[in-house]
Amino acid sequence: MMRIAVCPGSFDPITKGHLDIINRASKLFDKVIVVVLENPAKSPTFSVNERLGFIHRVLEPFDNVEYDTYDGLLAEYVKKVGACAIVKGLRAVSDFEYEFQMDLINKQLNPEFETVFLNTAQDYLYLSSSIVKQVAMFNGDISKFIPEEIREDIVKRLCGED
Ligand code: PNS
Repeated sequence: MMRIAVCPGSFDPITKGHLDIINRASKLFDKVIVVVLENPAKSPTFSVNERLGFIHRVLEPFDNVEYDTYDGLLAEYVKKVGACAIVKGLRAVSDFEYEFQMDLINKQLNPEFETVFLNTAQDYLYLSSSIVKQVAMFNGDISKFIPEEIREDIVKRLCGED
């Protein structure tokens, strides 16, 4: 049986931290699906189509990673695609409570999958899309945080140049 994992998130935009988790998940599972979902607690900077465009470009080198978007519950999406796990990166201790809560709720909604937490790589411990956006808006260097293929477009978009 093909073991499918889902990497969910808002990916607003995708960072090197996300990519590290996706890369590691791609070695553990037969297929990984990166899915852009709505996080009602956040108001996104990039449209879903822009976010999918960035994801498409950075996922090109991976054979067993696909991407998608879904307008609904993560637990439903996992069932729809027949995945056996969700993979998420866990950064500083501050992530824990929120991720723990989401995992327990997702289990109530659909007890048939596991959430696997991968420890973040040291370099990305305090990395987040929102911090990267701030750095870019003030013309800071985001090369350590954002994959090269999409960096220029993100900077242009956030600095309001065209
Ligand atoms: O990258 P994020 O913003 O931390 O990811 C959070 C996300 C998008 C995975 C979460 O908000 C989510 O699962 N949204 C879909 C709706 C849903 O299932 N909500 C209940 C989760 S407990």
